[in-house]
Amino acid sequence: MKILRTQEEIKQYSREMKQAGKTIGLVPTMGALHEGHLTLMRTARQAVDVVIASVFVNPVQFGPNEDFDAYPRQFDEDCAKLEEVGVDAVFHPEPAEMYPEGFCTYVNVEGEFTKKLCGGQRPGHFRGVATVVTKLINLARADKAFFGQKDAQQVCVIRRFVEDLAIPVEINMVPIVREDSGLARSSRNVYLSAEEKKAALVLSRSLNMARAAYQGGSRQVSELKKIIVDEINKEPLAVIDYVEIYSFPALEEIDRVEGESIMAIAVKIGKTRLIDNVILEG
Ligand code: PAF
Repeated sequence: MKILRTQEEIKQYSREMKQAGKTIGLVPTMGALHEGHLTLMRTARQAVDVVIASVFVNPVQFGPNEDFDAYPRQFDEDCAKLEEVGVDAVFHPEPAEMYPEGFCTYVNVEGEFTKKLCGGQRPGHFRGVATVVTKLINLARADKAFFGQKDAQQVCVIRRFVEDLAIPVEINMVPIVREDSGLARSSRNVYLSAEEKKAALVLSRSLNMARAAYQGGSRQVSELKKIIVDEINKEPLAVIDYVEIYSFPALEEIDRVEGESIMAIAVKIGKTRLIDNVILEG
């Protein structure tokens, strides 16, 4: 597996692959790789000739009081995992390589939907995500890029700017990967103590209860939300950031679940903020 650290190195690599007639798949990550990321890599492996992963903790998508400094970094372990799933190259730049002196161009998706859910809680977050993902897609000359459903709003944002800016790349959303317990895989799970990890099961449990009610015929959004909120409030270590049900992928307010919809939640367990969601097919 090639390790590429500079913009020049990745540009040259992707140019060579394109000249050899290969299709390129990009899997952007911030490292601390878990089974969820590896599923993205395997999906990409099946879909394209060359898989490029990026491992970059992107400073511009973190707010001033967020966990940029504490975010887990374990590049050597990540590389071993990437090799094992057959990734061809990993791009691992320093922040100054991606944002050199004089950098002043950002991609800002302005739709109302970016201000909801995590966009509402984390101002500037999606501007940072859209900027880095645009740059990574360009550097990798990606034909396809792969993202997890756990960050479903992120996928909506990325699909939007890719369409608006006519970027020739196909965006693929891969279903959430869960531990046997139901907990959605996340790099932030490493922050949880054993007690908190047990408490964190309330996220998937509450969503499953609402999904069961939906499958049993409940369509009223207020009713489904109440099931989720009541269950989370029973867990003493859990504090709700948001519990929302919107149309998907437009993320518009709805009263009843008729078409495709998303039940999305963010919950603090101790100091750790976790997100999870379930898409209802409608
Ligand atoms: O989902 C993530 O890990 C990040 O937001 C991404 C897409 C790698 C951009 O930094």
